[in-house]
Amino acid sequence: MNGYEKVYYTATIEDAWVKTQKQGFVYVTKDENGALVILSSACTHLGCSVEPATEAQRNRKKDLFFWCPCHGAEFDIVGASVGMELPGLERYQPLIIEGNVYVDIATPKK
Ligand code: FES
Repeated sequence: MNGYEKVYYTATIEDAWVKTQKQGFVYVTKDENGALVILSSACTHLGCSVEPATEAQRNRKKDLFFWCPCHGAEFDIVGASVGMELPGLERYQPLIIEGNVYVDIATPKK
């Protein structure tokens, strides 16, 4: 892994009688202890999709890994805000079953 992986998903969300298709992506990273971190791509400002920082952005701010093109929020490799005063990116609990990683995209943990 080169810092993070952008992983796309398609999921079916079901309530009592309605099925909704959801598509999106998460970022898979590791914390300083090597533990798997699954980050939501939804910016904690107003919900735009967070993108990987460009090389020029990373040269300007070393701990910057993700940024939001809507209003410029910036986040580090584990989703903490390093720009605007915002909560960090939401995390999903990774479920590791027989060597495969699953993510419940309906329930990010705070
Ligand atoms: S929605 Fe991301 S900075 Fe505003």
